[in-house]
Amino acid sequence: MLKIGIIGTGWFSGVHANILNQMEDIQIKGICGTSKDKAEKYASNYPDATGYGDVKEMLDSEDLNAVYICIPPFAHGEIELELIKRGIPFLVEKPLSVDLDIPYEVITKLKAQKVITSVGYHFRYRESVESLRNELDQSTLGMVTGEWMGSMPTVSWWRNQQTSGGQFIEQTTHLVDLLRYTVGEVEEVYAAYGSRSLSTQYDNVTVSDIGTVTLKFRNGEIANLSNTCILPEGDSSVGLDFYTNKGIFQLGFHSLDISKEGKKSSIVDSTDPYLKENQAFLHAVKTGDSSKILSNYEDAYKTQEITVAALKSAETGLPVKIS
Ligand SMILES: NC(=O)c1ccc[n+]([C@@H]2O[C@H](COP(=O)([O-])OP(=O)(O)OC[C@H]3O[C@@H](n4cnc5c(N)ncnc54)[C@H](O)[C@@H]3O)[C@@H](O)[C@H]2O)c1
Repeated sequence: MLKIGIIGTGWFSGVHANILNQMEDIQIKGICGTSKDKAEKYASNYPDATGYGDVKEMLDSEDLNAVYICIPPFAHGEIELELIKRGIPFLVEKPLSVDLDIPYEVITKLKAQKVITSVGYHFRYRESVESLRNELDQSTLGMVTGEWMGSMPTVSWWRNQQTSGGQFIEQTTHLVDLLRYTVGEVEEVYAAYGSRSLSTQYDNVTVSDIGTVTLKFRNGEIANLSNTCILPEGDSSVGLDFYTNKGIFQLGFHSLDISKEGKKSSIVDSTDPYLKENQAFLHAVKTGDSSKILSNYEDAYKTQEITVAALKSAETGLPVKIS
């Protein structure tokens, strides 16, 4: 039986907790939030869970095998460092932070003390993404265009640059990570961001609401990713289009559409990537074999480097090299 702690009492803690709750050999033992009251209420949904308002108190009280961290980008740091100090494996939701300061401190500590980690880049666990990787292996990729066009998440931390990092760091990071997973490493980033609409509709908006980012890859491919969060609720378009010498591969939210010399086919995901992500992490915790984890902290750091570089480029108007 694995004993699990969850940090965060918001939407995404619930997504993970509900998956964990269906597993036979897993007990959710502790749920920690910013207030004990909120955490106790949350914990009452899970039969073995106790609510805590303090992370160290939870870690001192429960003999946990692993911890899930599902908190806003600005709140990272002390929690990861405490878990590393105690040698407790953790699954942390993306993005790693609002910038690179905390992630750098965390990877530095992870070098000295190895701990199993997994980062919530769940798109990597999709069957359609595996098929896409196979198609790309058999073709020459020219370029990729992609978009994350949607509405603004309503949680208050999201609209504030200091607490979310902005749309590209917070959300479009999924696409950046997928490009690293399917295409390769990035060597240069150039970005333009703007603000068109959100600050007239909501108070305290400091994030950009439109942006476009050009990525140059080490092997010569180029990609352009655009994002906006000004669309009304219900309208969205998210995906990546790969243009190759064998045809066009279009990755949507749940499927891959392939067009080769006009012949069309589709692969639709049939398993939940969040479930696979959880199974891979828990398998690693149980057995020590982390080979099924498709994104660990060190790997996710490289994605964070790119999204943070894009912000710097948008601020300076200059291309930024990735070391
Ligand atoms: N992988 C995905 O598909 C996916 C989807 C949605 C959200 N997320 C990520 O999950 C994270 C959380 O998002 P959410 O939608 O659950 O946000 P949310 O605002 O609903 O919940 C965040 C929770 O964190 C708690 N919290 C903040 N600081 C804390 C601290 N220091 N200690 C303990 N708890 C703290 C808050 O009280 C709140 O309960 C974000 O990074 C987001 O990007 C990932």
